Amino acid sequence: MCGIVGYIGNQNAAPILIEGLSRLEYRGYDSAGIAVLGSRGPQVFRRVGRVRDLDASLPRRLAGKVGIGHTRWATHGPATEENAHPQTSEDGRISVVHNGIIDNAATLRERLDAKGVKFSSETDTEVIAHLIARSEAPTLEGAVLDVLSRITGTYAIAVLDERHPDRLVVARNGSPLILGVGDHEMFVASDLSALVRHTTSVVHLDDGELATVTATEFRTFSKDEENTAKIPTTIDIDFEDVGLAGYRHYMRKEILEQPTTIERMLRGRLDERFGTARLDGLNLGPRELRWFRRVKILGCGSAYYVGQMGAAMIEELARVPADAEPASEFRYRNPIVEPDTLYVAVSQSGETADTAFAVQEVKRKGGQIVGLVNVVGSTIARECDGGVYLHAGPEVAVASTKALTHMGIGFALLALCLARVRDLSIADGQRIITGLRSIPGQIEEILTGEPGIAKIAAGLAGAQSLFFVGRVRGFPVAREGAQKLKEVSYLHAEAYQTSELKHGPLALICESLPTVAIVPDDELTDRNLAALQQIVARKGPLVVVTHPGVAIGDPAVPAITVPKNERELDPILLTVPLQLLAYHAALALGHDIDKPRNLAKSVTVE
Ligand code: F6R
Repeated sequence: MCGIVGYIGNQNAAPILIEGLSRLEYRGYDSAGIAVLGSRGPQVFRRVGRVRDLDASLPRRLAGKVGIGHTRWATHGPATEENAHPQTSEDGRISVVHNGIIDNAATLRERLDAKGVKFSSETDTEVIAHLIARSEAPTLEGAVLDVLSRITGTYAIAVLDERHPDRLVVARNGSPLILGVGDHEMFVASDLSALVRHTTSVVHLDDGELATVTATEFRTFSKDEENTAKIPTTIDIDFEDVGLAGYRHYMRKEILEQPTTIERMLRGRLDERFGTARLDGLNLGPRELRWFRRVKILGCGSAYYVGQMGAAMIEELARVPADAEPASEFRYRNPIVEPDTLYVAVSQSGETADTAFAVQEVKRKGGQIVGLVNVVGSTIARECDGGVYLHAGPEVAVASTKALTHMGIGFALLALCLARVRDLSIADGQRIITGLRSIPGQIEEILTGEPGIAKIAAGLAGAQSLFFVGRVRGFPVAREGAQKLKEVSYLHAEAYQTSELKHGPLALICESLPTVAIVPDDELTDRNLAALQQIVARKGPLVVVTHPGVAIGDPAVPAITVPKNERELDPILLTVPLQLLAYHAALALGHDIDKPRNLAKSVTVE
């Protein structure tokens, strides 16, 4: 998705903007551009393709200490140089970068057209540049406010005006924007990763908020021109965390990081003595936790699948009815929001528009919602009534891996809290805590099996289509396994409940359709194994992901064995080899693993 950077200070802006844009590349984009304001007036450069192509096209001496930059993911109009941002006014005085979608752009465009304005792109953003240039307000802030009162939709914008070279004016509504406070310099970005090299002192803008940013100060204000006093917060991200650290791909780096990041996540959160979890950020005491009669989990894509794992943990441990629903559908079905339901939003980025809208819908209807979110200070984290930060560290690969295992663990902690104020005994709580403590070491063990998994993946990479099957606790694992594989390898993969095979999908089983079956050592093992015979009998190739001691029966069937934990926690571990399977299948097929086609890391539009 689109990315914004901005700089004003005492250094040359161009290299800082280019470096910031390259940090945003992981989000997905198809063109990029910058505008720099120096003694020669505003200069705008745009390119289709990579940030490095843009960089190569810049003049050697591009002087100017204020500028804005953008990576674009085409929405209005194809990926062309004309449609790339910054977009400018006719006279070139105003440059604008914009994330989001302006809903009434077509109407505004018609009106401007009728007034003789010449458009040079198909973008909705260009409308903003022309409107600002035509505003009669005496200040840039006034002109931006003027325009914001006329546009509807979602946006994060940064505006550069030749007449006001001492400032950038930025605004946010439904799309993230962050200010970075430096020493006699200020930064603007849509994503923390573009800032962390320069500063850890940041200000998150809220929806409906604007800011004037000069080299030495910032002022935030509302659309009613009321000052909104904001104090910078210090973020806890190491610049090294957002680099490749010698790995070829972020996806593999992030898979291998899991033992360390999970250990960090658990630190201080396990209460051995009382067999429960310490989640102060939930802002819920025992009485409130006890009061909820239902839990509803909202997330998208892989976060939704882990939400299904979480719902199972909550039902099993706390015996509270729980389910997960795709956040993207939630608000469109006029959901019944119940006061005694605990709503849980789950999101790595904390910026997924569909999930953020679901949070707003719950709040609008008076519901109570907490977040399981990775990115500190992100929109969803701030909008929820409380929450649990996942502390997975920055996740750069588009395909989510470590954040998902962290979500699984976050749900286990939440389930413990809900369960221990109900009927789960201290001993059972302690059993889960011991299980949680074993997870980092057990993941280490799984990771040592990488060469074997890579071999299996290379074998599967030749298939046109695959099934992933699992039952009950294993089904969300199968769904996530299929999702990961299709995202990075582009192989068609579908997940089914193993029990559902005979009700239809079995018709497709043949020698050329492999099935990856999740067969944990639990109360359903025998039934699972029996169902797999239906596949074997039809000559369908099988790969089994299982626990030690489960007798698959046929030594020719490749098995990936995962250490056994408590049955409630097993799904978290069963997911890990499927991450490696997807990674190695994509590697065998030679795909761009960290930036799969058509996908973006942070889906900030609906
Ligand atoms: C899968 C994947 C997506 C995300 C989904 C939600 O690898 O990354 O399916 O899980 O877009 O994103 P977040 O968790 O940022 O809300």
